[in-house]
Amino acid sequence: MERGLAQPLLFDLRGKRVYVAGHNGLAGSAIVRRLAGEACEILTAPRQTLDLTQQADTERWLVQHKPDAVIIAAGHVGGIYANDAYPADFITDNLAIGLNLIRGAHRAGAKKLLALGSSCIYPKLAPQPMPEDALLTGPLEPTNEWYAVAKIAAIKLCEAYRKQHGADFISAMPTNLYGRGDNYHADNSHVPAALLRRFHDGKVSNAAAVTVWGTGKPRREFLCADDLADACVFLMKHYSAPEFLNIGTGQDISVADFAAEVARVVGYRGAIAFDTTRPDGPPQKLLDVSKLNRLGWSAKIPLHDGLAAAYADFLAGGGRSR
Ligand SMILES: NC(=O)c1ccc[n+]([C@@H]2O[C@H](COP(=O)([O-])OP(=O)(O)OC[C@H]3O[C@@H](n4cnc5c(N)ncnc54)[C@H](OP(=O)(O)O)[C@@H]3O)[C@@H](O)[C@H]2O)c1
Repeated sequence: MERGLAQPLLFDLRGKRVYVAGHNGLAGSAIVRRLAGEACEILTAPRQTLDLTQQADTERWLVQHKPDAVIIAAGHVGGIYANDAYPADFITDNLAIGLNLIRGAHRAGAKKLLALGSSCIYPKLAPQPMPEDALLTGPLEPTNEWYAVAKIAAIKLCEAYRKQHGADFISAMPTNLYGRGDNYHADNSHVPAALLRRFHDGKVSNAAAVTVWGTGKPRREFLCADDLADACVFLMKHYSAPEFLNIGTGQDISVADFAAEVARVVGYRGAIAFDTTRPDGPPQKLLDVSKLNRLGWSAKIPLHDGLAAAYADFLAGGGRSR
């Protein structure tokens, strides 16, 4: 099961209490599935019991449950529309979740913490593929700068707790994710879930064409959430350093080719139209994953297989819509 065995074991998960914040989400549910293969106790708290934006409640919960390790896969997440329409919610919720969990984990005596950020922390005009040292070298993409600033703050919180308190807190920046348990809401979904739903609807209604936003030319990177989860477990065990790491496949694909792959997986046989009145965004977004690869971890799940698993989950009612 373990991939990338080149590194020494720095944190042994066996017998540890590991709290996965955001366990119902796309990333968090994959991490819970992956951790089930480790001999650790997995702690979770539904949002109804614990709202992570509430500092006192979050710190109380952490002190009561005393996790040995914390993985932060909770966040207020959404696509371009939601980021642009609700900037105050995106910055306040994500700042609060990061601060409450990182400070709370330290106060509760957690020995290891992994905070997940996002590739949107990088400047709009970062070199491609984007290396970790491109952080804070230029202005952010304006549509999601609110979310990005909160995620950058979480990186700095981990660094600060390591510097001041010697805490073994690390952070990692995943590329675009897809997979089981994704969010299929019309306004809040990301590209993979939005396309799966649209092509599925097109197949069911025998649509002559399904429309994809933009020209289809921009190139993007997509990582299966189960690959992300495997990388998270690898980093929990084998990585301890102030520098955050990118997590991705290291390969990009045009939106048009990605859409065609989704259509194949879904079994949609109509035409694919491109709405060129919609914005394309940057021509390329690809993470430089050479640091992670050198540590001994690389993505393994082929796009077709990952998408097929996501679609099977969607058909079985496994996705969310909110
Ligand atoms: N999806 C991507 O493409 C992507 C790409 C790069 C990085 N990431 C990283 O992965 C993290 C998770 O993303 P995701 O795609 O898995 O998002 P998601 O599917 O929306 O899951 C987010 C999780 O956070 C929980 N949550 C949000 N606000 C909360 C609150 N106030 N209190 C308690 N729980 C709360 C949600 O709980 P409910 O289930 O109750 O809503 C959900 O379980 C993000 O923050 C980001 O750092 C994601």
